[in-house]
Amino acid sequence: MKKGFALAQAIEECEKQLASAVKKLYGIASLPAKVEVSKQFGDLSFPCFPLASQAKKNPNEIAEKITQYLNAFYGLGGKQYAEKVEAVGGYVNFFLNDGYHAQSVEEALDKDFGGGEEGKGKKAVVEFSSPNMGKPMHVGHIRSTILGDAIALGLRKRGYKVIRSNYLCEAGTQVAKLLLGLKKYKVGAIKDEKQLLDYYIKINAEIDKDEKLEKQVHAILEKMEDGDAATLKQLKTIRKITLKPFKENYAKLGVRFEEEIFDSDFVNEGKKLALEAKEKGIARIEKDGELVAFLEEYGIPNLVILRSNGTTLYSTRDLSLADSRFRIYNPAISVIVTGSDQLMHFKQVYKMLELMGRDYTNRFKHVGFGLIYLEGGKLSSRKGNVFFLEDLLDDAIESASAQIRGRETMGKKEIKGIAQTIGVGSIKFGFLRVSNAKNITFNPEKAVSFEGDTGAYVQYNAVRAKNILRKAGGNTKASVPKNTQFNDAERKVSFMLSLYPDVARRVSENFEPHALCDYLLKLSAAFSEFYEKCPVVQSEGAERQKRLAIVAATLNAIESGLSLLGITVPKKM
Ligand code: ARG
Repeated sequence: MKKGFALAQAIEECEKQLASAVKKLYGIASLPAKVEVSKQFGDLSFPCFPLASQAKKNPNEIAEKITQYLNAFYGLGGKQYAEKVEAVGGYVNFFLNDGYHAQSVEEALDKDFGGGEEGKGKKAVVEFSSPNMGKPMHVGHIRSTILGDAIALGLRKRGYKVIRSNYLCEAGTQVAKLLLGLKKYKVGAIKDEKQLLDYYIKINAEIDKDEKLEKQVHAILEKMEDGDAATLKQLKTIRKITLKPFKENYAKLGVRFEEEIFDSDFVNEGKKLALEAKEKGIARIEKDGELVAFLEEYGIPNLVILRSNGTTLYSTRDLSLADSRFRIYNPAISVIVTGSDQLMHFKQVYKMLELMGRDYTNRFKHVGFGLIYLEGGKLSSRKGNVFFLEDLLDDAIESASAQIRGRETMGKKEIKGIAQTIGVGSIKFGFLRVSNAKNITFNPEKAVSFEGDTGAYVQYNAVRAKNILRKAGGNTKASVPKNTQFNDAERKVSFMLSLYPDVARRVSENFEPHALCDYLLKLSAAFSEFYEKCPVVQSEGAERQKRLAIVAATLNAIESGLSLLGITVPKKM
């Protein structure tokens, strides 16, 4: 079965009828607008405004005329998908028939519903999370982690072989400052990554006051890059201390990586690339000794690629990361997910690579996202104004647990598992609901509520669907009986179902999962109304069979949609 079949076919049918009407009535050979999913009236609609300017007529009048013409056809009941046409405010609105709704439900029962094959035989690298070493992960990292994971899941659903990459950063000034702090305060054994953060904050305050310390930081950077044994040993300790809690966070989030790479491994290659840029006349050494790439003529700021002491920068290492990634994987798509503040950095780096003759630069995509604020600072963080990711997740899980206790009879262990699924799922949904570019003010308590626009609400509707199917006997193979009628509540659900394949595809085209979140909320609302109005288990015969199919199809769509966001559905809630 072709994916997205019902919707695409219905649109094609409507456009064909419209084209013949427009030709007949106005002598215009091709449609100047497309049939779209309706925002307000009917299921599909055709805007008459472009046509109005071509035909030099009033759009309302055109819509009326076309509608009359089409109803002469549709009135005969001969068409496959539309059953009624109406004109409202310059639009021709189409109402779809039972055949359309039956087909939509059938398609939504397919186990690959919403999937695609564009990526078959191709690779995609998605780099995300990429925290800095020597510090705990904070809420800022959650957006990269969750968004990156959703992008990876979306690409996988289109058939790509996806390599999820975590680029762990330890080679820069941040870690060098931390090493300086550890030396200065004569720190012996280190307890955990939070203690490292304390030292980091402390030394930063000192560096701000005393410029001479900056020099010492640079000296440490040199040692790091020269492979000084004692320095490397310290780096190793920091790795060990930081990676453990990172992994715990990833496990809680259910996020995995195919590769974990360290930026320090890109230093030497980075230096070679910097020299290549110099030889190719793209970069030159400035008075103060820095090697600078000149990019201003391309409308972007110049970029320092080597310090005067010869050490590399973030930019230098990204040059070599790009080369290495495309050499190793040769991906059709390579995505890096970071805060929007790094947009210019990647523009600069990839402009340089383009100037250096790399042919892969148009396969790269930077996905940026806005900042995160916490509403009312409710999550009491243990560290000033830093909110640890760990605390955010634990609070969400606890809050979910408080909500399900007493709702269902469950054992302690069961509550724990379910609270984790709901808590973490709601955090993911809460962040992914917001379009990438927007800043987020996050309220963790609201996020796990079972009511309103939350992930828990979507999960809850899937659990309801599961309950119905269980009560109905479970093993019935769902399908829609021939020639059944759909009432309004049923139609709302089946129409929503037919929109899913397009919504799912768009996630991996524009890397914006928020439209999928919106969609899942709308589908859940439609299903909720159906649930209130249409008895399923108590109904009989063909009615029961059709409704069970609607329930099973909705469950399939919700589970599929949530899985693209990295969210699962609990057994009960
Ligand atoms: N560690 C960096 C940060 O926290 C993000 C790394 C992004 N990836 C890259 N290839 N530069 O800002």
